Amino acid sequence: MSHHVVLVQGGGIGTDQAVAAQRVVAALGVAIDWQEVPAGLAAQEKNLPPLPNELFDQVRAAGVALKTKLLHPPGGGDENYNIHFRHDLGLFASVRPIHDFAGLPGRFTGLDFVLVRETTEDLYAAIEHEIVSGVVQSIKVVTEAACKRFFEFTFELAKAQGRKSVHCIHKANILKMADGLFLDCFRRVAAGYPEITPKELIVDNACMQLVSKPQQFDVLCAGNLYGDLLSDLAAGLIGGISATAAVSHGPGVRVYEAIHGGLREWVGEDRANPLPLLTPTMHMLHDFGHVEQAKKLRSAVESVLTAGLVRTYDLGGTAGTRAMTDAIIDEINK
Ligand code: IPM
Ligand code: MG
Repeated sequence: MSHHVVLVQGGGIGTDQAVAAQRVVAALGVAIDWQEVPAGLAAQEKNLPPLPNELFDQVRAAGVALKTKLLHPPGGGDENYNIHFRHDLGLFASVRPIHDFAGLPGRFTGLDFVLVRETTEDLYAAIEHEIVSGVVQSIKVVTEAACKRFFEFTFELAKAQGRKSVHCIHKANILKMADGLFLDCFRRVAAGYPEITPKELIVDNACMQLVSKPQQFDVLCAGNLYGDLLSDLAAGLIGGISATAAVSHGPGVRVYEAIHGGLREWVGEDRANPLPLLTPTMHMLHDFGHVEQAKKLRSAVESVLTAGLVRTYDLGGTAGTRAMTDAIIDEINK
């Protein structure tokens, strides 16, 4: 059976990374019928709109997308395409597994926890205005309905993965209304899952705990902004951008996202690290039920990293995207 996947191409080094992901999937013998659609900068370079309505229809129809980071033209713009994309598809939870690759230099090894981030509201609602010159407000939006849906999703995920505890990260000691509601919803949903231990941690302490004793975590869940910060902090624990991915969930859709890789300069220069897109690809294969192939990809990446001979520039080597992908494929074929 062939899986239909929309490959959302956002430009920059995503161009080289997408080729690598497609080659690896083919080498693993998984049949994917890719529908490549340019978006963001990749679309604008072809004089197309950055986020056309058809893109959303195509992703909804397929139910699954693999997405590179959507870049912006130099100078940015008024809105962030990645956030607009999440918003239009109703992606409400972004699952960020923190699982190190052997051979990737990191601060810790043997970590295996997951961070779940709410992605529809909070300060990312980006409702901002200037009251008078020199005074601006940015509004933090928290609703009971969104929190309930988010925590139900988080606890279901924890249950499905056989996790023992869920930490809710908040700052309810200061933001008594916004984070207070978030925490209250957490407690109410947690009560329905007696087999999972609910834990609460204030976000600043969560940062300290993560960099000192990350082994204590199983599942962490947080609102949009704290979740963004904590997911990069957690990525830093295990060697950075190469080992991290986001699986964003919405009604009837899952988007496997590379959340890093903003470089425009290296396009076509064969310098991109393929791992920021291969990691979400690995999760996609796993969720399709190709568990053995997902494991094979993980161990092929680990063998290449451990041997240390073929690494891209950002990983301290001199190999190009193509050579590193070839090395991973050679391991798959062994
Ligand atoms: C992430 C990213 C995005 C975010 C950027 C690309 C807008 O950092 O998914 O973590 O801030 O959510
Ligand atoms: Mg981020």
